[in-house]
Amino acid sequence: MALRRRYLFVCTNRRADEDAKGSCAARGSEEIRGALKERIAARGLAKVGARACQSSCLDQCSSGVCILVEPDHFFYGHVTLADVPEIVETLVSGGRVERLVLTTDELARG
Ligand code: FES
Repeated sequence: MALRRRYLFVCTNRRADEDAKGSCAARGSEEIRGALKERIAARGLAKVGARACQSSCLDQCSSGVCILVEPDHFFYGHVTLADVPEIVETLVSGGRVERLVLTTDELARG
């Protein structure tokens, strides 16, 4: 398989409903990953452009749903299904969705 230009590691960690920390899966990350895969394929990016992978906890639980974008090395946080089209379009343009990029302060809170 070809090396993609970008890999989106979508946290699909799930904690028990009663766990106060919550989890990305409980916030809908599995559906978001599925939507990313579909949209990436529809835009013709699946073979070389990008791949949406499952990840275990990225230690940014308070900002879930979290996605780590590599090799760019930044986090998207508070991602919803509605953000998926914009995220994929930035994979085409080479940019990023700035309003979703976690700040240094947010990253420090974890
Ligand atoms: S549960 Fe997703 S970052 Fe921890």
